[in-house]
Amino acid sequence: MFGSLGAVTLLVSAVLGQGFATPKANGTSGYELKQGPLDTPWTEKVGTTPWPEYPRPQMARSEWRNLNGVWQYRNASGGESEMERPPFRQELESSVLVPFCLESALSGVMGNYTIHSWYRTTFNVPDSWTERVLLNFAAVDYQATVFVNEKQVANHTGGYWAFNIDITDQLNKNGTNELVVFVFDPTNLWPYNVPIGKQKLIPEHIFYTPCSGIWQTVWLESAPADSIEKLHINAGADGKVDITVHTTSNTTTTADFILYEPNSELVKLKIKVPVNKAHSFVVDSPQLWSPDSPTLYNITVKLGSDAVQSYTGFRTISKGVVNGVQRPLLNGEFVFMFGTLDQGYWPDGLHSPPSFDAMVSDLKVLKEVGYNMVRKHIKVEPALFYQAADQLGLMLIQDMPALSTSSVFINDETAKQCPGVSLTPSLDPDTVQKEFDRQLAVMVNQLKSYPSIVTWVIYNEGWGQPWEGNDGVRNTSIDGILTDYVRKIDPTRLIDSVTGWHDHGAGDFYDNHHYSSPQCGTPWYSTPSSPYNSETDHRIAIQGEFGGIGQNVSEEHAWKVAASINAINNTYELDATPKIWNLRAHMILQELEFQIQEYACSGAVWTQTTDVEGEVNGMLTYDRRVNRMDKDMWRRDIQGLYEAAARRARTNGTMGVEGRGGGGG
Ligand SMILES: *[C@@H]1O[C@H](CO)[C@@H](O)[C@H](O)[C@H]1NC(C)=O
Ligand SMILES: *[C@@H]1O[C@H](CO)[C@@H](O)[C@H](O)[C@H]1NC(C)=O
Ligand SMILES: *[C@@H]1O[C@H](CO)[C@@H](O)[C@H](O)[C@H]1NC(C)=O
Ligand SMILES: *[C@@H]1O[C@H](CO)[C@@H](O)[C@H](O)[C@H]1NC(C)=O
Ligand SMILES: *[C@@H]1O[C@H](CO)[C@@H](O)[C@H](O)[C@H]1NC(C)=O
Ligand SMILES: *[C@@H]1O[C@H](CO)[C@@H](O)[C@H](O)[C@H]1NC(C)=O
Ligand SMILES: *[C@@H]1O[C@H](CO)[C@@H](O)[C@H](O)[C@H]1NC(C)=O
Ligand SMILES: *[C@@H]1O[C@H](CO)[C@@H](O)[C@H](O)[C@H]1NC(C)=O
Ligand SMILES: *[C@@H]1O[C@H](CO)[C@@H](O)[C@H](O)[C@H]1NC(C)=O
Ligand SMILES: *[C@@H]1O[C@H](CO)[C@@H](O)[C@H](O)[C@H]1NC(C)=O
Ligand SMILES: *[C@@H]1O[C@H](CO)[C@@H](O)[C@H](O)[C@H]1NC(C)=O
Repeated sequence: MFGSLGAVTLLVSAVLGQGFATPKANGTSGYELKQGPLDTPWTEKVGTTPWPEYPRPQMARSEWRNLNGVWQYRNASGGESEMERPPFRQELESSVLVPFCLESALSGVMGNYTIHSWYRTTFNVPDSWTERVLLNFAAVDYQATVFVNEKQVANHTGGYWAFNIDITDQLNKNGTNELVVFVFDPTNLWPYNVPIGKQKLIPEHIFYTPCSGIWQTVWLESAPADSIEKLHINAGADGKVDITVHTTSNTTTTADFILYEPNSELVKLKIKVPVNKAHSFVVDSPQLWSPDSPTLYNITVKLGSDAVQSYTGFRTISKGVVNGVQRPLLNGEFVFMFGTLDQGYWPDGLHSPPSFDAMVSDLKVLKEVGYNMVRKHIKVEPALFYQAADQLGLMLIQDMPALSTSSVFINDETAKQCPGVSLTPSLDPDTVQKEFDRQLAVMVNQLKSYPSIVTWVIYNEGWGQPWEGNDGVRNTSIDGILTDYVRKIDPTRLIDSVTGWHDHGAGDFYDNHHYSSPQCGTPWYSTPSSPYNSETDHRIAIQGEFGGIGQNVSEEHAWKVAASINAINNTYELDATPKIWNLRAHMILQELEFQIQEYACSGAVWTQTTDVEGEVNGMLTYDRRVNRMDKDMWRRDIQGLYEAAARRARTNGTMGVEGRGGGGG
């Protein structure tokens, strides 16, 4: 494994001539883990060779080199004009640990208002790499302009998406190369309005510290000129595989597709597939993927001298009527979806989990008590997160990161300090919407081959909806258009067009948010949205958010930022002890069970996996050191939900209330 930048930098230093500013001897110079407001059990273990894992499990090549580690950093607060003076061949004054958000303690910068930044490192390419060299960024927030040996090779927009660049023609023959990246990240700086999810320049309660810069793995790989560029694979419960092998040229017109038996090297199927077009074939009686039995099949795809490893799982997600109620179906069966709202924030790394083990441990905590789903909330995770969900058997509801809901204004004279005036984002709404739509397509295309994803969410509540806060002016056709747009890119998933509140009748779900108790598929609702209870409603009723009850933490587990601590009292409900918190959770889960048994509830999302900053309502505290759950109780209560759903699929409710769910209606 080529995991260590330390080693790479050592090599580079050894061969560097006068031309390059020489990085410090062991590549860790100048970097120091900052003391943040809170750490995790993994913080100290990160060291200076973070995230050594191979970062792209669905298209893995053997020849790769990790560039994570200590890079040089400069605050480019001069703004756009800084772009005219790239710091080529200069040593930058600060250091940053890649790949951690500039605002995080792990980055060693722990800055604020990191709107414009320069990153710099040097790298060499193994002599054995005789083919093309691709430079990969798994995610840079928000806009990255990339220079290799003083030439601009890319300008990428969007804080959550992977991109790569063929840099072969830019590489120096002597093997030493300079990589410089300019990053622009407005977050919610006026007048920009870009997909940011929960990030805010000035955090406030349910909005958190932003993440700027390189926040996922940077790496090199070697591939032939005629190579596989992208793989899209969907495998259904009927054994039908839909595959598109995208390649860099059409020189080779077919690829070999090899499917292995699960956990074995035995070949189940080997066929030739045409490239650069959709192709389908059927695999005989596959073992299906489900949360209870997350069977995966390894795949090799070969194109000429190129070969990549991948995998898939056979499953079908659809909807259908079961005993009079519209239901989500997994492999043709109604499976009640019970998950958490999963923010994916870390006190030490913010958007970047401190390590792979840390990231997966959150999922294991959920799986342990019987959750079968996770709602990935207005954030996108590293590819290895999705693989972990595929392997553990957790269905994913994936949200599109929301546009910003307010802006911060920095005026020129006081650019040194952000005064925090809150304004409405004011870029031309059509431009903003177009870019949102573009990135929505990028998300679906990037993630659509993970079998665990069952649903796409376009909008979280009214956040970033063009008509947010304007209930009188609803344009259902806009949601309709976006829903169709997503459906066209991926017809194999359900679409939750709007989760909570600002529903416009589009998509597959009627999704309600109600704290703390649920109102899931019931004949009563206290929200302004139209309730799910009409014979003509062909959508599935789910509870996209509920719970949210909190329990304050002692100082050692608290995010030690005054504004966050002062916001803790905004929690829907604060219970005095974990015991009371569990008791309240039990009561709320009983209520949900009743609604499942009696009415039309098909899934629910408990807020939330962990505490985040001033929110103290997690299963786990923000530092992941305290698990609040009485595990036996949660296991029994969650099992109770699945059993109620199974009963409701066979029998009607007994309460005799008119409505979709009521037996006597
Ligand atoms: C490597 O080659 C480049 C030009 O290709 C040159 O600018 C640089 O100085 C060389 N570096 C060393 C260490 O020779
Ligand atoms: C190498 O890194 C360590 C920290 O990991 C540091 O203490 C030491 O001073 C560094 N050595 C040099 C020569 O920079
Ligand atoms: C960058 O510079 C800006 C403007 O001077 C300042 O507000 C900000 O705190 C700086 N950030 C870092 C990380 O140094
Ligand atoms: C931003 O960072 C600077 C430099 O560390 C600090 O002086 C300032 O208080 C910070 N501002 C906020 C709002 O956190
Ligand atoms: C990068 O792309 C953005 C968005 O299109 C544009 O505003 C910016 O000027 C571009 N930067 C460079 C250096 O090309
Ligand atoms: C390969 O052929 C397909 C279908 O004719 C075409 O759409 C695509 O652009 C071609 N790709 C390349 C890299 O030439
Ligand atoms: C897929 O292949 C990898 C590497 O050979 C192996 O570790 C893993 O167990 C295989 N997975 C399955 C589901 O067969
Ligand atoms: C709703 O949006 C569609 C598509 O943008 C547009 O054609 C239509 O005029 C809009 N209707 C209203 C009432 O704004
Ligand atoms: C929550 O606990 C912190 C100490 O960790 C304390 O400072 C704060 O006042 C408490 N807030 C409430 C609302 O109880
Ligand atoms: C929460 O506490 C803060 C600071 O102590 C106070 O300003 C605010 O009014 C309180 N909010 C609520 C909802 O009690
Ligand atoms: C449930 O009620 C509906 C009518 O409300 C009826 O069509 C259906 O047969 C009932 N199902 C069972 C299992 O009793």
